[in-house]
Amino acid sequence: MKGVYALLLLIFPGICLAVEDDRRIDCLPGKDEASCSSMGCIWEQTQSEAPNCYLPQTYGYRARGELYEIEGGLAIDLVRETEISMFGSDYQEITVAFEHQTKDRLRVKIYSKDEQRFEVPLKIEGAEFSEENEYSYEIINEPVFSIKIFRKSSGTVIFDSSLGGLTFSDQFLQISTILPSSNFYGLGEQEQPSFKHDMNWKTWGMFARDHPPDGDINLYGVHPRYTVLEEDGNAHGVLFLNSNAQEVLLMPTPGLVYRTIGGILDIYFFLGPSPEEVVSQYTEAVGRYYVPPYWSLGFQLCRWGYNTLDNMKAAWQRTRDAGIPFDVQWGDIDYMDRSLDFTINPTDFKELPAFVDSLHDIGMKFIPILDPCISMGEPVGSYPPFEEGNALKIWVSNSSGDPLVGKVWPADNCHFPDFSNPTTQEWWISQLAVFHELVSYDGIWIDMNEPANFVAGSVDGCEDNKWNSPPYKPKSVGDTLPDKTICLDAEQNFGRHYDTHSLYGWSQSEPTLRGVEEATGKRGLVLSRSTFVGSGKYAAHWLGDNWSEWDNLHFSIIGILQFSQFGYPLVGADICGFIGNSTEELCARWHQLGAFYPFSRNHNVWDGVDQDPGVWEGGLVARVAKDAFKLKYEILPYLYSLFYYHTLTGATVTRPVWHEFPMDKKTWNIDTQFMLGPGIMVSPILEQGKITRQVYLPKDSIWYSLPLDGSIHSGDIEVESDLNNSAHTTPIHFRGGFIIPTQEGDFMNTVEQRKSNAFSLKAFLNSEGMAFGFLFLDDGESLNSQNVHTRVIFSIEKGSMESRAEVNDYTEANNMFYEKITIYGVKEIVTQVTLNNEFIEADGFNYDKDSVSLTIYLGQECPVPDLFVLHWF
Ligand code: NOJ
Repeated sequence: MKGVYALLLLIFPGICLAVEDDRRIDCLPGKDEASCSSMGCIWEQTQSEAPNCYLPQTYGYRARGELYEIEGGLAIDLVRETEISMFGSDYQEITVAFEHQTKDRLRVKIYSKDEQRFEVPLKIEGAEFSEENEYSYEIINEPVFSIKIFRKSSGTVIFDSSLGGLTFSDQFLQISTILPSSNFYGLGEQEQPSFKHDMNWKTWGMFARDHPPDGDINLYGVHPRYTVLEEDGNAHGVLFLNSNAQEVLLMPTPGLVYRTIGGILDIYFFLGPSPEEVVSQYTEAVGRYYVPPYWSLGFQLCRWGYNTLDNMKAAWQRTRDAGIPFDVQWGDIDYMDRSLDFTINPTDFKELPAFVDSLHDIGMKFIPILDPCISMGEPVGSYPPFEEGNALKIWVSNSSGDPLVGKVWPADNCHFPDFSNPTTQEWWISQLAVFHELVSYDGIWIDMNEPANFVAGSVDGCEDNKWNSPPYKPKSVGDTLPDKTICLDAEQNFGRHYDTHSLYGWSQSEPTLRGVEEATGKRGLVLSRSTFVGSGKYAAHWLGDNWSEWDNLHFSIIGILQFSQFGYPLVGADICGFIGNSTEELCARWHQLGAFYPFSRNHNVWDGVDQDPGVWEGGLVARVAKDAFKLKYEILPYLYSLFYYHTLTGATVTRPVWHEFPMDKKTWNIDTQFMLGPGIMVSPILEQGKITRQVYLPKDSIWYSLPLDGSIHSGDIEVESDLNNSAHTTPIHFRGGFIIPTQEGDFMNTVEQRKSNAFSLKAFLNSEGMAFGFLFLDDGESLNSQNVHTRVIFSIEKGSMESRAEVNDYTEANNMFYEKITIYGVKEIVTQVTLNNEFIEADGFNYDKDSVSLTIYLGQECPVPDLFVLHWF
């Protein structure tokens, strides 16, 4: 059939022809036959979910002239070709610029030369112009202008806009593409039911929004980027750098239509070709997370509704008493005086500062919440954050130029700071400094920064104009865009809220991190609910107000993998769920999973029952949590090293199985298991009442299962984890070929503990008897700018292991030792071992036939940075 259409097009170029169902581009305003035809669109009813009214293939632009050179690439000018106007104010002339930013990164910018429209203030610079690019592209001008982007090495067309519908109007911009594969992952933030998308006419809206996860509803952050895993195992990524309300429609072709209601079409292509390289190239462009404080990887406890310090202390004490490794206590809005930022409840939390000091004494940390909207109702002279801000005129203003008035938690109305204004940033940083004198926090949690507003637009509503009621509303919850936020005609330093809405949390993240670092003098943690492309450079993220329901365990894995691809390595979901009441079984399973989120925090809503691990009668949840976190704390040296590699190279910390095995088709759909770096597979039990589950361990590798009893697996297996069996914990597999640095022992306080505890290495040989690993060490809390660290790499080959420091600037590392090294998968009995060519005494090592492993006890012979070589025979 396709051939017939192509032939007809050759004979009658430009005529309106029927288009196959799954390639139709919606003519959106055409709701019935009459309105459709009167616009010049094609009406043809279909039984599928394809649109009945669609754009003709002649809709779009045509090139005027040839490609011409611009700095760093080529450009071409286009003229509008069609009479059809979906939403008015179409640009008659536009330009398409191809910037060859790096050999793996191509930028295609579609814009107007005549008018400066809003562009996201995130500068992605190109490198030297190179001809040796991984991509090439072609311009097609029949029946209208379209582009094809190729992966040069394989010839795969990774983007092909000939699906049609190119639109560039004032408040509606659209481009479509045919995709080379249905292995499509990404777009956020929403609760996605599967990591690999359903391509059957699903639309995903993106507009920052305060809303609990609820199916395909747009949530807190905006990440218009995706990865496609091509059929041959190569991968590419695409970013639509735009901050207006927007959506992506996924089509079965496979293809997609991208639509936004402002700005420009600014598209970045990342050629990979490995999935990890796609993320690395993406984060190289938009920014990478810094190495977080070591303690931020530990267990953290929170709830909304402790209501008193006594209750907070009681939950904290229960967790301590249960012996659960535990690093951070959090404070939600109830620690504040009447929900006022930068205050402490003078009765119920009077002793909070002293409690925080006592936490520090035992090496623990404290993080309080702050909301952006600053109350305007306090008596004159009593609330400096408002008065100072007011004097500096730092608020977001409404369309008349007055500060916009909203309503959030405080009883009185409030103003929203405009974080895009440098004066606001300085004001915020100085409030953070004063606050730190009141309570010596270690990080800051920035919530409600979509920004959330409990009245639509403002207490005075919004004017009815083209910003607040645009002609097209991309898929988003609420009747209007200002619903639950501020008016879109509000003004900020960097533009109209219509363009900048989804950048609010982004603009708050950097100054908050700066403020925390300046106030504490140490590496900080900023946890932000609203995120945008690139704010992963400054903030960690949690998946918001999830539900204490079983399916949310699964959704949390999907969310974490997504944010990992978006460049947020420190991410987690509220353990045991936020809304509703958790149950003992759910909460136990959630700790088993949540221990392996990079960011592990138990948190819940004010009207839910207590769910800290120590509160559950009978002690089952506490025991399960303790076991799971003991395991996490043991592998913290490995996890922390993964974070370092993220900062250095963009490598992900949590990663989908297909990132490691892109050629193995069985991995493409897996989203109930995930990997920590290249070496560890986590396969938690996610269903109520179950104690076993199926796991797929890619056949290209061999996998060692916990407990390390010598069993090696590959392929489909069943794992068991019975909550009532204290020998069972989260199902984990170690991948042959990797060496995992660990620290064993009693961990109540990571930063202090790791200074005194010895390291161990667990090496898992692959089928060729080889393994590789790395260890990154610093003091875990100094500002990254000081960059004082030690980096060691290990390798095993042919019965010999070498450990070598690539960098050794962290002098403390010289006082850290490897206590023991265990090598799993040593098939031949070992009778002799040498360390640096000297024989080790017989009691200095042990070969265990059952677990097929060799353990070498080193005592204090091997300081971590020293070069050493082991041989065994
Ligand atoms: C909404 C946040 O998502 C939630 O985590 C927090 O507990 C409440 N706001 C109250 O601050």
